[in-house]
Amino acid sequence: MAPSFAWSSLFTLCLSFTTLVTAYRPVQHCKQLGDNGHYSACTSLTQHYNQTSGQADLYVRYQWYKYQESQNGWHAFGLGNKMAGALMFIMYGNPTAPTPDMTLSVRSADGHHPPLLIHDIAKFNTPAAEGRIPEVDIITSKFEPYSGPYEHPELHLKPTHVGIADFVVHGYSKWVGTTVSNTSTAQPMIWASKYDQDFGGTTVLIAR
Ligand SMILES: *[C@@H]1O[C@H](CO)[C@@H](O)[C@H](O)[C@H]1NC(C)=O
Ligand SMILES: *[C@@H]1O[C@H](CO)[C@@H](O)[C@H](O)[C@H]1NC(C)=O
Repeated sequence: MAPSFAWSSLFTLCLSFTTLVTAYRPVQHCKQLGDNGHYSACTSLTQHYNQTSGQADLYVRYQWYKYQESQNGWHAFGLGNKMAGALMFIMYGNPTAPTPDMTLSVRSADGHHPPLLIHDIAKFNTPAAEGRIPEVDIITSKFEPYSGPYEHPELHLKPTHVGIADFVVHGYSKWVGTTVSNTSTAQPMIWASKYDQDFGGTTVLIAR
């Protein structure tokens, strides 16, 4: 899979990325835009065909900068070209908590509505959807203090923390919500962030 992201220019803000497995067509993407320049994130993706399970697993590393020592704000990205039916990964949390765990919530939506947990969406609880909800193994999901040299050119601020998520989407190409292919060279994805929203873990709306 070589995702073609729906966004345009590439930004070479590069955090230290490691590829988890050597596999077919790894992809890395970094972007800075939106929210008055507060969106700063890098994604790396690679897939590995698991002979034992007979399915394609997607290995994801997502890193994002936080510019305030605050629990507010979130980042999200998803497989799909719109919220409805996308397989979405939403990240948030308080980097100054004693244990700076980051919440990573796997969600979808049945329209341009706040994403719900997949089992709370009626259309994913049908016989047709059975066996087509990928399992997600979260390997790492945490905040680390940022001590690098990067300073945002418009904010004139250094990030205070980096949110780091490593996870594996087992059998990702069987996802029932939208077309996800393990052989396509153009996988649509959506993303969104809001740096200062007091999210409280409840609702979030992702723009295309
Ligand atoms: C894609 O998945 C199918 C099974 O769903 C498998 O036969 C094929 O080898 C996979 N291709 C790659 C490139 O992983
Ligand atoms: C491959 O799939 C099997 C069966 O689901 C699982 O036990 C194993 O951990 C998987 N291997 C990797 C590298 O994920």
